[in-house]
Amino acid sequence: MFSKSEIRDALINYPLKEIMEKATCEKRKIFGNRILIRGIVEFSNHCSKNCLYCGIRAANINVKRYEMKEEEIFEVVKKACELKIKTVVLQSGELKRKKILKLGKIVEKIKGSFSLAITLSLGDLTKDEYKYLKECGADRYLLKFETSDEKLFEKLRPNTSLKERIKNIYTLKDLGYEVGSGNIIGLPGSNLDTLINDLLLIKELELDMIGVGPFIPQRDTPLKDGKSPNIDITLKFLSLVRLLNPISHIPATTSFDALHPEGRILGLKSGANVVMMDITPPKYSKNYKIYNKKTEISYYKDLAEKMRKMTEMVEKSGNKLFFDIGASLKAQNPRLIF
Ligand code: 5AD
Ligand code: SF4
Repeated sequence: MFSKSEIRDALINYPLKEIMEKATCEKRKIFGNRILIRGIVEFSNHCSKNCLYCGIRAANINVKRYEMKEEEIFEVVKKACELKIKTVVLQSGELKRKKILKLGKIVEKIKGSFSLAITLSLGDLTKDEYKYLKECGADRYLLKFETSDEKLFEKLRPNTSLKERIKNIYTLKDLGYEVGSGNIIGLPGSNLDTLINDLLLIKELELDMIGVGPFIPQRDTPLKDGKSPNIDITLKFLSLVRLLNPISHIPATTSFDALHPEGRILGLKSGANVVMMDITPPKYSKNYKIYNKKTEISYYKDLAEKMRKMTEMVEKSGNKLFFDIGASLKAQNPRLIF
């Protein structure tokens, strides 16, 4: 199911239930019923960019901006370790160079104190900055291409280009990062062809991790009146991502819960093998409004309680939480790449 017309046929005609079962079967072959857990710290909501879909865009004056202190980040990571979490994702908007250098020191300190993998999600940086952060100990980097449609990319992400984004993805690979990317499903201005091309681009990039999620309108953005895609096409897309990329790590993110009360559980039944737990202190998290967060789970104050909820959710999907560093299977066994 790799040609454009086969993918189109699957998206239009294939029954959702069957495609979800196929994706689950493919996932089970590689990962069994084990679901990896990653902790995510949204350590700053400052951003110099102005993506039309994003709630923390620079032009949004309704956001209370914050930046977590080094000790606060360290404390949260320590708590994650106590809960046996083995990967921490540090995410922010696009920051100034001075802040990147400061973050490098924090990465160094975390890596020197705990045995865990660090994933960074900081957007477009210079090659030197990516290199510096790698040398500080960062293991992985998430850089979503958002949409494979060049024109739409430039319209929705002013003063940036898809070419530059893709170039950065290859730079990260060259520097030895495990790399994740993906799209936003159903961005206003996209269509079925965009989805097909997004799937083909994801496959072409040979990613270690693939993050896909539905567009969710945010009330303070120019796209506030845009519509989310429906849950069925979102799950079909996710299932196809799994079928086309059998060994990649694929999370069921909280954004799925915005479409359906059991969105993430359905994601775990559509080939996802990873869950993300937001471990940002609530006083900050409430201001990280990329989209309007609907799920209560991100507001449970006590992390142990949050972990219990996460365990329950994963078990409801017929799987089990697995506390492992969850390195790329490509890195572990290059023979698996065909
Ligand atoms: N809907 C869905 N995803 C969004 N992101 C930003 N804004 C939205 C939105 N309105 C995603 C982008 C970005 C990640 C940090 O959040 O994919 O890469
Ligand atoms: Fe900034 Fe990323 Fe939001 Fe764009 S999507 S405005 S780069 S945080």
